[in-house]
Amino acid sequence: MGLVPTMGALHAGHLSLVRAARAACDRVIVTIFVNPTQFNSAQDLASYPRTEAADAALLAPLGVDVIFAPSPDQVYPTGFASQISVSGVADPLEGALRPGHFAGVATVVAKLFGMTQADRAYFGEKDWQQLQVVRRMVADLNIKIEVIGCATLREADGLAMSSRNARLPAAARAAAPALFGAMKSVVAAVTTGGQADTAIKIAIAALHQAGFDRVEYLALHDGETMQPSTDLKRPLRLLVAAWIGEVRLIDNMAVTPAP
Ligand code: PAJ
Repeated sequence: MGLVPTMGALHAGHLSLVRAARAACDRVIVTIFVNPTQFNSAQDLASYPRTEAADAALLAPLGVDVIFAPSPDQVYPTGFASQISVSGVADPLEGALRPGHFAGVATVVAKLFGMTQADRAYFGEKDWQQLQVVRRMVADLNIKIEVIGCATLREADGLAMSSRNARLPAAARAAAPALFGAMKSVVAAVTTGGQADTAIKIAIAALHQAGFDRVEYLALHDGETMQPSTDLKRPLRLLVAAWIGEVRLIDNMAVTPAP
């Protein structure tokens, strides 16, 4: 049984996970739950898009066996008192900027694993750090599930698909692919022997030039431990979070040395 956990507002990125599950599993469950405990502001939670009917229509042709869309009360009944807190991988980047976010994610993901009793779970590399947090939790707590990471689906111009893209006004949408360009320029520099710090400074300047308001991080980290690193012999990852107008975008890219 394959599980694809989502918060709904489904797009082609989510559907690629469902297709991967469908191709490899006898039964496929998609969960749709906007998990309140992983949001940092009540406003972000309230404005998160909820499009259940459209989501069901997108899933219908894919041969999903079950769509499980529980209410907050079903997931967190009165008396609920437990929490899974992962340290290390969950500490930097999103963990530092969004206190409590990964505890919320880890707890709800563990619950979804328990509720569905799935054998495999599909997660997107789009949320690279989340994927590492889930892998760490599964290993640490001996949870009997196979975690599958799936490649990030992008628009033709390189912008990673995200439920938040719909909130980009036209000008911001036009500028947003600069994020992909900035990541590519840093990866190209680092893999050809360039200085990481210099490449990152230039890329941040290019993002501001393109119309981004604030770059929260554009940084190289070990892709498994999530600690800062520039070691090309390790699976190195470049990760970025940046604001354009009211919208916060995150993305990441593998840093693979040229053969
Ligand atoms: P959500 O943001 O809805 O994402 C659900 C899954 O879709 C995640 O594994 C995410 O990485 C993946 N995904 C999103 N955009 C993608 C893209 N462009 N390409 C490939 N995969 C993509 O992530 C969450 O929900 C929640 O934190 C959740 C795990 C459901 C726990 O509440």
